[in-house]
Amino acid sequence: MENLTPSFISPQVSSEDLKLETPLKLGILASGSGTNFEAIADAIKQQELNAKIPLLIYNNPQAKVQEKAAAFNIESKLLNHRHFKRREDLDQAIVDLFKSYNINWVIMAGWMRIVTPVLLGAFPNHVINIHPSLLPSFKGIKAVEQALEAGVKITGCTVHLASLEVDSGPILLQAAVPILQDDTPETLHARIQIQEHKIFPLAIALAAKKYP
Ligand code: GAR
Repeated sequence: MENLTPSFISPQVSSEDLKLETPLKLGILASGSGTNFEAIADAIKQQELNAKIPLLIYNNPQAKVQEKAAAFNIESKLLNHRHFKRREDLDQAIVDLFKSYNINWVIMAGWMRIVTPVLLGAFPNHVINIHPSLLPSFKGIKAVEQALEAGVKITGCTVHLASLEVDSGPILLQAAVPILQDDTPETLHARIQIQEHKIFPLAIALAAKKYP
């Protein structure tokens, strides 16, 4: 499938260009199945990304990402957003936990919560998000469905620095993915995710170089 639908990644960077002297300490935020978490953890294991993941925070008790963390022997904690009155309170709990683990980069790997100045202010220019579209197109939820409905012929994924506006902020890396005639949200998302898994570790290293 991948060969039939060539993708295009920009800017062109290799892990060789992005070697880091000091390991990054990544705090990962995830809400769902955790395939992006797994791709990052795997890149670290394969020594393609010089980093450690001291802590994963997830917000849904059923999130599969927790099992993925256990498989990598990575510590994880549940912060259920339903137990916090305000978004700021959840973000403050995240900041407190990550600071206590000496985290220096926050990675939103499928984090389906809107973040506030509490989180962004505690890690200025050091919060990274991934989104399944070529931003600034198709922000928000159901980005893959939005692209199919709009009838665009190329979509993709974006890794960017997070800012207060949802799915906005300086773009680090994008991958383009062609839309096929018979695509459903599921088939298209699966091909986008193949690209997400490639660009996310690269984009983290790129961010660390650009915003040390
Ligand atoms: C990913 O496709 C990511 O781009 C998307 O959630 C999925 C999580 O998958 N994020 C957003 O839509 C954020 N606006 P995963 O749990 O398998 O990594």
